[in-house]
Amino acid sequence: MKTILNAAQKGGSGKTTLARNLSVAATLDGKRVLCLDLDPQGSLRGWWESRKADTPAMLDRDPAPDALSATLDAARAQFDLCRIDIPPAHPEWLNEPLAAAGLVLIPVRPSPNDLRAVGATVAAVKDAKVPFVFALSQTPCARITEEAARVLAQHGRVAAVNIAQRVAYAETGATGHGVSETTDQKAGAEIAAVWDSVKGSLDG
Ligand SMILES: Nc1ncnc2c1ncn2[C@@H]1O[C@H](COP(=O)(O)OP(=O)(O)O)[C@@H](O)[C@H]1O
Ligand SMILES: [Mg+2]
Repeated sequence: MKTILNAAQKGGSGKTTLARNLSVAATLDGKRVLCLDLDPQGSLRGWWESRKADTPAMLDRDPAPDALSATLDAARAQFDLCRIDIPPAHPEWLNEPLAAAGLVLIPVRPSPNDLRAVGATVAAVKDAKVPFVFALSQTPCARITEEAARVLAQHGRVAAVNIAQRVAYAETGATGHGVSETTDQKAGAEIAAVWDSVKGSLDG
């Protein structure tokens, strides 16, 4: 079982949105996916509870951070992929999910404040020696997006496809769908492309 952690110190950067949509994309790609929500706000679980489909799966209760490793061991035989969502503002237990992760996905909005905040996340992930990929999130079609990609590329790999600012991402937070299950084909295509690129990083 591969484990992907979404991390970014900045709130609102798109961690939970990416977790829900990549979980659905991986499920549609035939993977058995388990979502774990370690954010006390429970946004990922809230989305999942409004979802009609049984997959991706969640446990009856999410583990406490210090029980994460035992939970993953117990899930290993049943799932191909585990997606872990965490709160913003690095929790003191960040090392637990970092130690469990095979890949960290760092969503970043293309704004100076978000770019400034990303250093702390990158430092923690590099300390833990986990591979990571940046994903530009909520991108406008503007020069600031290209500039942000250039800045991030100096620090690590940037997903080839950006997650644009689209109503479908916000709406599906309430409906329990992934954008791949809506009529927004552009959103579905970009999530499929990001999943493809993430999948490649997991294997290699
Ligand atoms: N690509 C996007 N397009 C439009 N709205 C988005 C997008 N990504 C996130 N959002 C919205 O921004 C808000 C914060 O996103 P969220 O994923 O909850 O961030 P985080 O989990 O990092 O705090 C949510 O209301 C979400 O619906
Ligand atoms: Mg969140």
